Amino acid sequence: MDKKNKLIGKIDKLKKKKKAVILVHNYQIPEIQDIADYLGDSLGLSRIASQTNARVIVFCGVHFMAETASILCPNKKVLMPDVNAGCPMADMITKEGLRTLKREHPHAAVIGYVNTSAEVKTELDICCTSTNAIEIVNSFKDAKEIIFVPDRYLAHYVSKKTGRKLIAWDGYCPTHVKILPEHILKQKKLHPEAKVVVHPECTQPVIDLADEALSTEGMCKYAKLTDASEIIVGTEIGLLYRLQKENPRKKFYPPSVEPVCPNMKMNTLEKVLWSLEDMKYEVKVPEDVRIKAIKAVDRMCRA
Ligand code: 13P
Ligand code: SF4
Repeated sequence: MDKKNKLIGKIDKLKKKKKAVILVHNYQIPEIQDIADYLGDSLGLSRIASQTNARVIVFCGVHFMAETASILCPNKKVLMPDVNAGCPMADMITKEGLRTLKREHPHAAVIGYVNTSAEVKTELDICCTSTNAIEIVNSFKDAKEIIFVPDRYLAHYVSKKTGRKLIAWDGYCPTHVKILPEHILKQKKLHPEAKVVVHPECTQPVIDLADEALSTEGMCKYAKLTDASEIIVGTEIGLLYRLQKENPRKKFYPPSVEPVCPNMKMNTLEKVLWSLEDMKYEVKVPEDVRIKAIKAVDRMCRA
């Protein structure tokens, strides 16, 4: 048996022994995607975390995702194989910063992307992901003002789609802003028949070149359903592995510069094994923070 299969065998055994489930985000490396009990986007994985009967959740993603699982599942042990995997966009907003903005707009509804810390979530009326951001903004029919944090590009896109003016934060995803219109145009020239899907964390000029702006799970659904046999994919490179595996007859192309989120690449099979062996690294949101944050997260999961 080769090293990789040995590792997978050990992970499997320990997973059963510890009653653990492995949740994996669509941007993780292929080896980790292959051992997932559930592979998905931020919304899907939050929903799975809230429903699982497992005692332990090994979350292969970034810190805010594990925190969200901890908020939803106070009685489960939530582990991250590498606790240093953060989300730079989530780190661009603090609870204090958001409080200041709320003081300037005391009657505004407050919507926050799930890419935020648990502390920031305590200040939100509701969380959203890129899957449901448009519906959630539309659900605040009577709000005179809406604060939307922290991604200014998602806010711009949602504002354009809903016709609602949003008070946005100045955050952004360092991986998605590196995708430039010329990177998409170059691929379109090489593959003139291809459809283009991009993540709404991309800038508006990039979104303007796309047939659809979708969450990672939305892109997986689109790839299955479309008649197109070639798709240019404007998001983190990890998603292409899943797309190709699920649609072997179709061709997927990244933008001409491959977008990589270094934080999403920190996990390895070894780290997953060590995580189960030593029950580390536990992510536990303090109870006083959790009870304030749960309202916004719960509303998102039910929306
Ligand atoms: P999804 O919710 O679409 O998976 O996106 C999460 C994320 O971090 C995108 O950069
Ligand atoms: Fe955060 Fe961007 Fe990485 Fe997603 S891709 S986890 S938004 S830095």
